[in-house]
Amino acid sequence: MNEDKAIDIVKPHLKQERFDHTLRVTETAAELAAKYDADIEKVRLAAILHDYAKYFPLDKMKNIIKNSELPNNLLHFHHELWHGPAASVIVYEKHGVSDTDIRNAIQYHTTGRAGMTTFETILFVADYIEPGRSFPGVQEVRDTAQTDLDRAAWMALRNTIHFLVGKHATVYPDTFNAYNNLTVQLNGR
Ligand SMILES: [Fe+2]
Ligand SMILES: [Fe+2]
Repeated sequence: MNEDKAIDIVKPHLKQERFDHTLRVTETAAELAAKYDADIEKVRLAAILHDYAKYFPLDKMKNIIKNSELPNNLLHFHHELWHGPAASVIVYEKHGVSDTDIRNAIQYHTTGRAGMTTFETILFVADYIEPGRSFPGVQEVRDTAQTDLDRAAWMALRNTIHFLVGKHATVYPDTFNAYNNLTVQLNGR
């Protein structure tokens, strides 16, 4: 699949602001891919497709999760997490995107996971730091991403967990696992 085709697939499913976000994530992810030696073309495709399912009806995402090999425990956590895993299934089943790097990066962009590859981490961080983001702490992560991708991912996870705990929300286990995994890795350097 090329970029134009990927854009044709996602564009009808996204509001304009989300499409603009998608393009900014794509450029940010491409910069990180160049910096950290990942396949730029593949990273760009993953970025274009990452929010494909963002506005799918909840029932549709629920059904996709139930009828796939995705972990069903997702359904016990906030529905905001569902669009990544759901998109990773739909891009494969409907559009033949079988590349594991692309599918995993899309799947885990909402939750993270322990042992994220560089490819997955690039999309995870790009989604967090793209220039349209303006929440507290983002600039520190942006700056760190220029020199230390894993530390940037760790900061994003830390901020996310902190935010969720602060509002008494649940945290999906993969997000904790990603945080713990990177904490140990960074402390062991
Ligand atoms: Fe997303
Ligand atoms: Fe996104």
